[in-house]
Amino acid sequence: MRVLVIGSGGREHALAWAIAKSPRLKKLIVAPGNGGTQTMATNAPIDITDHAAVVALAKSELIDLVVIGPDAPAVAGLADDVRAAGILCFGPSKAAAQLEGSKAFTKALCDEAGVPTAAYGAFDNEADALAYLHGKGAPIVVKADGLAAGKGVRVAETLEEAEDAVRECFSGAFGESGSTIVIEEFLAGEEASVFALCDGRNIVMLPSAQDHKRVWEGDRGPNTGGMGAYSPAPVMTPKLLERTRREIIEPTIGRMAERGTPFTGVLFAGLMIASDGPKLIEYNVRFGDPECQVLMLRLKSDVLDLLEATAKGNLAEVTPEWRDEVALTVVMAVRGYPVSVEKGSEIKGAEALDSADVQVFHAGTARDGDRLIANGGRVLNVTALGRTVREAQARAYAAVDRIDWPEGFCRRDIGWRALEREGG
Ligand code: AMP
Ligand code: GLY
Repeated sequence: MRVLVIGSGGREHALAWAIAKSPRLKKLIVAPGNGGTQTMATNAPIDITDHAAVVALAKSELIDLVVIGPDAPAVAGLADDVRAAGILCFGPSKAAAQLEGSKAFTKALCDEAGVPTAAYGAFDNEADALAYLHGKGAPIVVKADGLAAGKGVRVAETLEEAEDAVRECFSGAFGESGSTIVIEEFLAGEEASVFALCDGRNIVMLPSAQDHKRVWEGDRGPNTGGMGAYSPAPVMTPKLLERTRREIIEPTIGRMAERGTPFTGVLFAGLMIASDGPKLIEYNVRFGDPECQVLMLRLKSDVLDLLEATAKGNLAEVTPEWRDEVALTVVMAVRGYPVSVEKGSEIKGAEALDSADVQVFHAGTARDGDRLIANGGRVLNVTALGRTVREAQARAYAAVDRIDWPEGFCRRDIGWRALEREGG
């Protein structure tokens, strides 16, 4: 098979790494890729927002399968354009990607499908939004409707903070993404993520994974794209996973098919595990980054079989196998992330660490001759397997400590919730 992966982060390096292991692979291209994908695939330096350029590349390289990694190309409808050219694509249509692209769409769909989620109101003007807020009180959550690079959600402790968030959205802080807002009930509980491959009708649940969104140890500081992850997540017991499938994923996939916008690709459900069961916080229409990195390390089956079956509507015929070990990844970021990011510092010692138990995935790297250079906020994902969370964590940090990069930092407590459950 000839495969084109779209994206340039750690998620895409992990996907490319798993794809490269497939005996079915003939050619692998990553567009635009990074310093890690460059060593195991061909990087194609094209503008992925230019769908015609992506399709032209896929055609000239006789690509059999395009795999869309990030949210933005999915929401922009790249999969539709690839399919219109007669090429198989892993990723949702533009219509189905509204599950990530519009929070108001998702809330309405949850109502129609009976999916448990926070009570809410959706507003296109400040006066109505403020009136609703005053009727509800705090704590309460204010969200810009569209994609806002992870910055469009405010969990407000006080009414004043919530009012600020409403005004910020309508003042244009998030552009078009904030012209509609969702205000919703604050949910208490522990968060968890669930991933499901969907081919429009069939569902294959993937193992649970948990990320760490805040930048500092102890889950403090500003939100990031994710500072580390592990799989499985002990909070997602088999019973909870089954409830999530039945109460959340299945009704969503069923309703999407009924409305003529079947969902294909990977559905990523952000959940709050409340005292009365799982509730949906949000959907994403892609793998989590860095959750994908730990899932790929645990996958025993041929990832191309899974991606192809998803794209072709044949998921009923596949059952992926997973390693029993725990996988854990530590994100190394540039000092200053997520507030300010300086590119260009040199990273040494990151390339000879890969072993049976350790994989260093690149997120924001580039190469300058022989030198490996930081080229983004999140730069490396040091990922390890172990029989326990403790063992995987020790292996990951031992590898981190061998990397010589003074301009980088990481959290030192990735996996802490799971470690507490493991008993120390
Ligand atoms: P989202 O971008 O929708 O995932 O929201 C970002 C973060 O805000 C989530 O990971 C939660 O920590 C928090 N959050 C979002 N919605 C709620 C809610 N209704 N109740 C409590 N926390 C929430
Ligand atoms: N790690 C969270 C995300 O990919 O959205």
